[in-house]
Amino acid sequence: MWKDSYSIGVDLIDEQHKELFHRVWEFARVIRSSENWEDRLEQVKETMDFMKDYVITHFNDEEEYQEEINYPDIEIHKQAHAKFREGINQYVELFEKEGLTEEKIQEFGGKLMTWLIVHVGKMDQLIGEFVRSQGGQNNES
Ligand SMILES: [Fe+2]
Repeated sequence: MWKDSYSIGVDLIDEQHKELFHRVWEFARVIRSSENWEDRLEQVKETMDFMKDYVITHFNDEEEYQEEINYPDIEIHKQAHAKFREGINQYVELFEKEGLTEEKIQEFGGKLMTWLIVHVGKMDQLIGEFVRSQGGQNNES
């Protein structure tokens, strides 16, 4: 679940993070519900399609922002994003090859949650700290 303490003080990024949390938690709720798997599959597919595109948009925006503010750890951050994109792509490939099995979808949902919490809760926080250390308002104007 989204927590206000995850905010880094940059509106565009915070809004995108909120949307990611919202989608991933909704995804988790659907895959864990007791409804018939076939009925849940449609929602799973929808979320997967959304996530593929939205994650790319979000990473691009976040990296662009880091460039704008001359964020010193941008390369490390880009590597972390690349690794995550790779992780998503691996699952997408797996799903294409083997179909959307409940077991693999559960595994994927769990990984998404963990990654989001760790990345947004720790790594992205450093961006906010950097902006504050520069005396910035943390909001693009
Ligand atoms: Fe990030």
